[in-house]
Amino acid sequence: MEFFVDENDRVDGIAKVTGKAKFFAEYEVPGLTYGVLVTSTVTKGKITAIDSKAASNAPGVLAVVSHLNKPSVAGYEQEGGSPMKIFYTDQIFYNGQPLAIVVADTFERATYAATLVQVSYAKEDFNTDFEKSISDSTVKKLQGQTPYKRGIEDAYKTAEVQLEQKYHLPVETHNPMELHGIIADWRPNDQVTVYAKTQGVKATQNTIANVFKIPVDKVQVNSEFVGGAFGMALRTWPLEIATIIASKHLAKPVKLVITRDQMFTMVGNRPASYQKIGIGATKDGKLTGITHTAFGQSATYENFTEGVVNMSKFMYQCENVNTNYYVIPLDMGVPIWMRGPGEATGAFALESAIDEMAHALDMDPLEFRIKNDPEIDQVQKRPFSSKYIKEAYKLGADKIGWNERKNKPGSIVDGAWQIGYGVSVGVFGAGRGRATVKGILKADGSLVLQSAASDIGPGTGTGMTLIASKLMNIPVGKITFELGDSSLPPAPSQGGSATLSTVGSAVNDVCVALKATIVELAANANMDATANFVDVLKKNNLAMIEKTIQSSQNNPEAKNYSMYSFSIHFVQVRVHQLTGVVKVSKIVSVGDAGTIVSPKTARSQMVGGAVGGIGMALTEEALLDHRYGRYINNNFADYHVPVHADVPEIDVIFINKPDLIVNPMGAKGMGEIALIGFSAAVANAVFNATGKRIRTLPITPDKVL
Ligand code: MOS
Repeated sequence: MEFFVDENDRVDGIAKVTGKAKFFAEYEVPGLTYGVLVTSTVTKGKITAIDSKAASNAPGVLAVVSHLNKPSVAGYEQEGGSPMKIFYTDQIFYNGQPLAIVVADTFERATYAATLVQVSYAKEDFNTDFEKSISDSTVKKLQGQTPYKRGIEDAYKTAEVQLEQKYHLPVETHNPMELHGIIADWRPNDQVTVYAKTQGVKATQNTIANVFKIPVDKVQVNSEFVGGAFGMALRTWPLEIATIIASKHLAKPVKLVITRDQMFTMVGNRPASYQKIGIGATKDGKLTGITHTAFGQSATYENFTEGVVNMSKFMYQCENVNTNYYVIPLDMGVPIWMRGPGEATGAFALESAIDEMAHALDMDPLEFRIKNDPEIDQVQKRPFSSKYIKEAYKLGADKIGWNERKNKPGSIVDGAWQIGYGVSVGVFGAGRGRATVKGILKADGSLVLQSAASDIGPGTGTGMTLIASKLMNIPVGKITFELGDSSLPPAPSQGGSATLSTVGSAVNDVCVALKATIVELAANANMDATANFVDVLKKNNLAMIEKTIQSSQNNPEAKNYSMYSFSIHFVQVRVHQLTGVVKVSKIVSVGDAGTIVSPKTARSQMVGGAVGGIGMALTEEALLDHRYGRYINNNFADYHVPVHADVPEIDVIFINKPDLIVNPMGAKGMGEIALIGFSAAVANAVFNATGKRIRTLPITPDKVL
């Protein structure tokens, strides 16, 4: 069958929808064996014994590896410390912690044998209750970030109009469609090849080399396609090291794919949080003070912090701002960054509080935001590299029909449904790192670009191909971008909305260098400087030319600016008056993300963020039974992620104006801003519809009624 590929299509779209794209678990390694984890059924304590006799004697079982019989792992020989050293400790830190791996000749046999392993424990008292721990003075609370103060502390307390509110977010789990795991193939010469699910092949390569104390070039990491990650694959987890240990022990390749319920415990989460916001304004609507205090959740065996209060420092013009952030270590698996890390949590509180203040002032919340829009970044005392937020407000408001909104809650009724409108802002740093890209320009008219970048779904290859296509004037079909292989030139992990900016800058630099070489070669051959590169290469008897370039970290001017991407989310909700059901009925997301390099994938990013935002706002909550320290809704029946029926048509609008301070493409990141703020827009719309302010996510019917 012939497929028509549009210039705007994903370069890997056909591979993905026809099954040609290979995800880590699909690689067929000769002699592959299958691992299944045995996990802790208690929440804290010590392992006193592991009886693996029955499991070892079960059909097809090759090994049961635990701390009792593991091979030496050089990097783990020193005791204690962080991160947790799997199979080098008898301590239980959380319920569901991997304790042993059973390896068999088939997955089914390994699964059965894992049920036969008997672990005995010395149990200890534990604490998994975040909400209770906030007010419990005996529970340890760690400073998560240096406190920040500008102007007068707690200035809101003397404001003409003042508010003080508390906001709660539950644990949210990433739950990408693809389960986590790894195929590990440790060879007798101490070389290891892995097929991994990772947001950074170089990061995974370095971690493995460090843990096993082997040279980096003895570790090969392959991860060409990733079925979603949202932050959970930004580190190498103990379960991956456990699989490599098993492979080393057996001298056989081992595959481990964890189960959906294990996705709730072993690969991080968005931590629960509790936030207090104090906010003060003059009667005519000028902000005079913001105090934001946040508590996040961490683990006892590893620490995790994120920028929950960052946005409160600079999003609005305000002379007096103070913030504080603490984490509470609990007997739970350690959290990790999840889409819009920190900011998505903080934005729910701040953007709800801003809406509450607008209501207290009897002002339109959009007008209130515009009135307090800052000219400069008051934290760094410098201008923004680009900020088109007022334009974004206007475009979004027009599109959703903001003028139909009434400031008085509960004003619009359609039969059993109340209708409301909400708005919220999202912001995330438009960062850029260093990447190296190799470009091979061939006399057959094609261009191959190589970099150890990743694509967890947003379309890295598509973005890079479009950048090169435009610069080189080569059709996209003639360009290949190779990624997801640790032997390629180094690139940072895909995270923090920085891949297009970082790797794209290196693609830009390589293309510029290749073009310069072609001009030189043309001159050597007495050809015109504008001659086609194919002719130039042929005339010079060259099959190809190559350039490998590391991008410069930043535009030298960048230090004079604060660089952020912004988003505005507008939503309309319908709230059923009898059942309390909330339906998001319209969405308009506006992105101020610089040049839009790849319109289709950019739109998809914003759509995906809105869908994730519906889940965060309305349904997603990982619930723990504190008697046992165990999740009770660790499946897709009980932990509801949005499905088509939950999602209305989504309008995406981009400002699409270049920010050349950030990078030569003028593009700012958009992975995080697609989600950040969204949940507050929903909460604000629910308030506008019903007059009921919900400060605890998710907004389930019981809270609405
Ligand atoms: Mo993201 S949380 O930077 O994958």
